[in-house]
Amino acid sequence: MAAPVPGAATSQPSPARRTRPVPLPAASFLGVVVEDDPVTSATPSSTSRSAGRSLADPLSLGHGPAWRNRFALAPLTNTQSNPDGTLTDDEHEWLAARGRGGFGLVMTAAAYVAPAGQAWGGQLGIASEAHLPGLARLAEALRESGATSSVQLHHGGQRADAALHGGPNQCPWDAPEKDAVAMTTDEVHRMVEDFVAAAVLAERAGFDGVQLHGAHGYLLGQFLDGRRNHRTDGYGGSLADRQRALTEVVEGVRAATGPDFQLGLRLTPEGFGIPLEEGVETTRDFLASGLLDHLDLSLWDVRMRPRGGADGLLVEHFAGLPRGGTRLGVAGGVLSTEDAQWCLEQGADFVTVGVGAILHHDFADRALADPAFRVRQRPVTREELRAESVGDRFLDYLAAGWDDLVT
Ligand SMILES: Cc1cc2nc3c(=O)[nH]c(=O)nc-3n(C[C@H](O)[C@H](O)[C@H](O)COP(=O)(O)O)c2cc1C
Repeated sequence: MAAPVPGAATSQPSPARRTRPVPLPAASFLGVVVEDDPVTSATPSSTSRSAGRSLADPLSLGHGPAWRNRFALAPLTNTQSNPDGTLTDDEHEWLAARGRGGFGLVMTAAAYVAPAGQAWGGQLGIASEAHLPGLARLAEALRESGATSSVQLHHGGQRADAALHGGPNQCPWDAPEKDAVAMTTDEVHRMVEDFVAAAVLAERAGFDGVQLHGAHGYLLGQFLDGRRNHRTDGYGGSLADRQRALTEVVEGVRAATGPDFQLGLRLTPEGFGIPLEEGVETTRDFLASGLLDHLDLSLWDVRMRPRGGADGLLVEHFAGLPRGGTRLGVAGGVLSTEDAQWCLEQGADFVTVGVGAILHHDFADRALADPAFRVRQRPVTREELRAESVGDRFLDYLAAGWDDLVT
């Protein structure tokens, strides 16, 4: 998408630019990634917690098929869907190619579960029967490729685009500056139902599972925000009450889908109104619920240190949490086999790859074949990315927000 998303945040850094925050015209999904302190990184540690765990090992989960290896394609907004949210051939091919390229799990971009949740033009929808055929064709292609498949379920909340869905935006609190009004309790219940209905639609389409987008300050994450969510109807205030909407979605999806359906959750460990201690508590609680198959920590840089001054690496605050049967993933800056192996050594069960998978549709196959594999030099040309099944609208979107990625 060449034009900036109306109403999108324009002062947010992109994850691909960890050292040089710049205006990001189109990538409203990112939001305030580095809200205050600059990101600091650490040298890879040589401690080995992977205990012989290999990137090539299949990953069994509590429900559904084992992933064929430890690589998951990150949810990557690509703005290639039709205006009505149905899948295009370009978006189909972008994802199917990552399945053929060896990823254990292929995740779609954030897909809106209700029209009021749509946050940018060209966003994938999973909100009506009209979305089913394209999703079903994609699920089939991914299965044929040997990948496990998942749809990322998303609602933009106050960061949706009111101009796209007719507004106003929905939010746990009143936010006139975001054209958002506080949801009524009935609207919260309806939002929970929308997530559950979207998961059922994904299952009907033939997907192996869904991931709930609880990260990056979108609606589910907005409920977790202790700075602003002071609701008094049981959905705000204490941490337990701020978690309630997400808990109800998790329980609802589990109850409405079959025993082979995989349920994942993506969380921001720190930021967007979530101090590290609460990020740890929320992660601990959802890992302990026993209802999730996987939980992905969106770290922006797997080697990041906590921004609030806590010790060590961010990942170290999470890797030791009891996880029962839930598999823990990490995302951010994995650009080589060595990076990915390092993540397993920190205790991750799987590694989520974004930019690396844009640069190489077969990042997973390459990393599994070559311990010295590292992504190609950036920026790359449009032609190079076209050869990786990155369509023109995705190219425009990347060029608008990531000039150090594509020329
Ligand atoms: C172009 C682009 C689109 C993204 N879209 C989404 C998205 O739809 N949902 C989401 O949870 N994260 C999204 N992210 C964040 C990625 O999933 C990932 O966490 C982040 O890019 C860090 O991983 P990486 O350094 O391997 O790219 C996006 C990132 C990029 C670069």
